[in-house]
Amino acid sequence: MNDKWWKSAVIYQIYPRSFQDSNGDGIGDIKGIISRLDYLAKLGIDAIWLSPVCKSPQDDNGYDISDYMDIDPMFGTMDDMIALIEEAKKRNIKIIMDLVLNHSSDEHRWFIEAKKSKDNPYHDYYVWRDGTADTPPNDMGSVFGGPAWEWVPKLNQYYFHQFSVKQPDLNWDNPKVRQELYDMINWWIDKGVGGFRLDVIDQIAKEPDKKITADGPNLHKYIKELTANTFSKADLVTVGEAWSANIERAPLFSNPDGSEFSMVFQFEHICLDQQEGKDKWDLAPFPFVKYKQIMNKWQTQLHDKGWNSLFWDNHDLPRVVSRFGNDKEYRVESAKMLATALHGMQGTPYIFQGEEIGMTNVRYDIEEYDDLEIKNVYKERLAAGYSKEDIMNSIYAKGRDNARTPMQWDSSENAGFTTGKPWLKVNPNFIEINVESQLDDENSIFNYYAKLIRLRKEYDVFINGRFEMYLEDDEDIFAYSRTNDNQKMVVICNFHDKELDMPLKDETAGMKVLLSNYDEASDKLRPYEAIIYIGE
Ligand code: GLC
Ligand code: CA
Repeated sequence: MNDKWWKSAVIYQIYPRSFQDSNGDGIGDIKGIISRLDYLAKLGIDAIWLSPVCKSPQDDNGYDISDYMDIDPMFGTMDDMIALIEEAKKRNIKIIMDLVLNHSSDEHRWFIEAKKSKDNPYHDYYVWRDGTADTPPNDMGSVFGGPAWEWVPKLNQYYFHQFSVKQPDLNWDNPKVRQELYDMINWWIDKGVGGFRLDVIDQIAKEPDKKITADGPNLHKYIKELTANTFSKADLVTVGEAWSANIERAPLFSNPDGSEFSMVFQFEHICLDQQEGKDKWDLAPFPFVKYKQIMNKWQTQLHDKGWNSLFWDNHDLPRVVSRFGNDKEYRVESAKMLATALHGMQGTPYIFQGEEIGMTNVRYDIEEYDDLEIKNVYKERLAAGYSKEDIMNSIYAKGRDNARTPMQWDSSENAGFTTGKPWLKVNPNFIEINVESQLDDENSIFNYYAKLIRLRKEYDVFINGRFEMYLEDDEDIFAYSRTNDNQKMVVICNFHDKELDMPLKDETAGMKVLLSNYDEASDKLRPYEAIIYIGE
């Protein structure tokens, strides 16, 4: 079971524009990342998932690529990228590239050609339908708001875009498109990258005439072909982003035979704190017991049949400590508890930059935000009659810029992120919450994460142990065991600020405490307390 390096790996996600600026232009860059590799080595991570650094007009912060084989000057040069791969390698860290294959930028040369004429050789690289200026092919909407069809008068046609107007969908039904993408991926593999994260990969096989976006009939056929022509040739980690993945389809995506990906990001547990049938902006309380049921299902049903990705947050999601913990009185305790709950499960854990120091959500004025999704929802909901207060509360809770504020390195101006003006305002709490203040503090969140990562390398049971949940209906406690041939581990986490009686005493009798987020032992399970026990 431990045959694959990525099973015992911990992956750290970097959102490049917010990580470290090296030249004072206020935007993080590749040289900045290189200057922080020692920090990441100290944390103990094995790989970096780098959000897109390829050439892009930055309409969706790099998820709109205009040249897959070049680096955006904002982030540096191809030489910088090669240096990053090499410098990371010296520290036993692999670089995972973010591949955006569902769509390109409208400024990609393929699209510029495609819209010249219907018989241009690149026209069929994208998804076009006939129509008239005021009747689009159908009423499909885009993820970021507005219609999914954009009219091009010169051609008397619409092009299809699941995301912004500047992100036209690539036509995967065209074998030439697929081949171009494979060639590009192989070129990156030759550059020495350690793997790929595949952006919205479940949406590539769209069939707009049937209003199918995710999980189209040809999806797995295309993924298998993609893998056979690219990833399967090297020892890479691949992770597909698949909002539509469910437990029935996940074993396909992450089949141990290697025909698709190493693992998928699934989001079932991430979409719980919203009103049923509505979208993420329609807030609802977090149904904790339901969360546990979902984790139980993924942990037990994917065991030996696939591989889980474990994550709480990323560049599209709010900060975990604000969302599922307590970012005030119990920020430190709850950040450590959430880390414990996650890293104790089976799968490959991901840490999103800043999570390891307990960075929190922000509350900015609407003008201070940058994200196009935030701007669009604000406009749309105002027009639809929502109150400003309502909209702002949704943005505070779910806006993507919560995750994108600059990394908080120290308490100097702009948190040590830049000497210039940061592209997005720094969270004002950087004076208190920053890397520098945590490195030498043995009890810091940072050092707790470092310990968790070390334990994972020491105890096999973290990697291959079978998962079993305790106290399924308990409204406060998330507890489970992991068992392999020679070890058993019990993880107990209090998700709330109540003090409870210590549960599972019989289970843990005779076991030793491997890690805990409180100093001294107690008979009570204190607010946000987390304990890992280990025994035979
Ligand atoms: C993914 C990315 C997100 C991006 C979208 C379109 O969901 O994580 O940041 O906006 O795809 O590429
Ligand atoms: Ca810069």
